Amino acid sequence: MQKYIKECQAFIITAGAGMGVDSGLPDFRGNKGFWKIYRPFENKYGFTDCANPQFMNYNPNLFWGFYGHRLNMYRNAIPHQGFQILKKIFLNRDYFIVTSNVDGQFQKAGFDINHIYEMHGSIHKFQCTPCDKLYDANQFQDLSIDLEKFIAADPLPQCECKHLLRPNILMFGDWDWISTIYDQQEKRFFEFVEKYKNNKVCVIEIGAGTSIPSIRNLGDRILDNIKQSIMIRINPTEADIPNDDRYFSIQKGGLEGIKELGA
Ligand SMILES: NC(=O)c1ccc[n+]([C@@H]2O[C@H](COP(=O)([O-])OP(=O)(O)OC[C@H]3O[C@@H](n4cnc5c(N)ncnc54)[C@H](O)[C@@H]3O)[C@@H](O)[C@H]2O)c1
Ligand SMILES: [Zn+2]
Repeated sequence: MQKYIKECQAFIITAGAGMGVDSGLPDFRGNKGFWKIYRPFENKYGFTDCANPQFMNYNPNLFWGFYGHRLNMYRNAIPHQGFQILKKIFLNRDYFIVTSNVDGQFQKAGFDINHIYEMHGSIHKFQCTPCDKLYDANQFQDLSIDLEKFIAADPLPQCECKHLLRPNILMFGDWDWISTIYDQQEKRFFEFVEKYKNNKVCVIEIGAGTSIPSIRNLGDRILDNIKQSIMIRINPTEADIPNDDRYFSIQKGGLEGIKELGA
């Protein structure tokens, strides 16, 4: 595995919510993940209720309490040291990052946005569903949120057309997500795969769960497309790999696992 890391021409990182855990961010279904601890509304509403475009019309201040809190948390987070170790490993070699995370942590750690595909969108962008307009979240001031009730105070982010804005991320039961930015990122990513399809490419999957397997499925697809590629799966609890000598498993957290790759 180490020999391959030294020899390969390019890297692809595929990352799920577990990549943020060592930066102190909650994952989704883990013990300290959103699913278990994030019951902001006294168990009345769960994650899928809140992460839903219909919820914005039903109760906009609760909706923005939920997303505004996440936005503030991702804004304040400091990406763990593993991000910098990855940069050293990539040095002078090409790379692409695919993530289902909406938290913008790879950009914050200094990776080039032209080498990132955010398959579920980004919380750092807002969209106006009726008029299709997109905004940078930092055009709006931080929301003030009552952390007991998870209610965001007015004014909530509004489009110039006066409609309420929502985060530009793929939610549950979501037919309105404007995916223009991410479709372009996806196009760049598949051009990258095409470019390296006859080369040695090392795919490193970090903290991708099995309950929403978008990242895992994409990884398998990359290995099908790039015949000389290998996959290194870093995950403390869901590190199982298929019976295939192109797959390697490191049963550790993101930071410890990345250290093991050897910079
Ligand atoms: N930061 C974010 O943007 C964020 C956070 C939570 C959920 N989500 C969204 O929710 C969905 C959840 O899917 P998912 O598979 O990413 O999350 P998940 O919670 O289902 O899985 C997280 C995975 O990370 C692993 N993990 C736990 N601690 C870890 C650590 N210290 N280092 C590395 N891995 C660790 C777990 O074993 C698990 O396999 C995705 O669509 C994602 O977009 C995003
Ligand atoms: Zn509008």
